[in-house]
Amino acid sequence: MLVAQISDIHAGPDSPSLLVFERAIDWLKAFRPDALVLTGDLVDDGWREGYRRIAQSLRSLDFPVCLLPGNGDDQSVMRGELAGIGSWAGTFIPMHFHAALTDVTLVGVDVTIAGQSYGDILPHLPWLGSTLADAATPVLVFMHQPPFEIGIEVLDQVGCRNGDALLELLKAVERPPLGILCGHVHRPVLSRTGSIVLQTCGSLCPPNPLLLGDRGDLPVLDASSFLVHEVGNDRLLSHIVSMRSLAEGG
Ligand SMILES: [Fe+2]
Repeated sequence: MLVAQISDIHAGPDSPSLLVFERAIDWLKAFRPDALVLTGDLVDDGWREGYRRIAQSLRSLDFPVCLLPGNGDDQSVMRGELAGIGSWAGTFIPMHFHAALTDVTLVGVDVTIAGQSYGDILPHLPWLGSTLADAATPVLVFMHQPPFEIGIEVLDQVGCRNGDALLELLKAVERPPLGILCGHVHRPVLSRTGSIVLQTCGSLCPPNPLLLGDRGDLPVLDASSFLVHEVGNDRLLSHIVSMRSLAEGG
């Protein structure tokens, strides 16, 4: 199974991010994954027209699409404009999703908190535990804010809180997920705890600098990117698809 993941479009009326997104969607139409997951921060400032244009692109796909909100999303506008594309587990908030495909189960945990940049997994552990217990196929768990430190202090301050409690839960479940797959930090980062892969997807908006320690003055050379996850019975391979800048074309 091939599961594409796009994160952090941050579309706005004056940014090229929506064009980058539309180019990624064109590529995915030709690539034909089995599913696409968006891990939040679709637009900035609740830009309704941005949600509409993203919805229009997503409606042109013939594979399932799952959607999580990020801290920058307006959940009410997002839910309204993307109704019929995403299907969420609850009636309104949180916007968790659960999709049992043929050979993989996709679980999205909405860890966002209204008005905050950081997230928190703690209130959602009971739902996640019971969802994992019911899964009949290998599971990928998606979140917006990562529950692990990526080493960039300003971003770790706004990560997902109570990651330790999440890892305790995952140690206790019969079928731990193959990976915890996040967004939010606008850089691809890979980590691991036990047999569980922890990673963040790059962004379609311009990436953040690699601010490790005092190396803050380095230029950003990174391209926008997204991920394609290849899921087998007991394995997860994640391919990074980097996108040339619009100025380069192609
Ligand atoms: Fe975010």
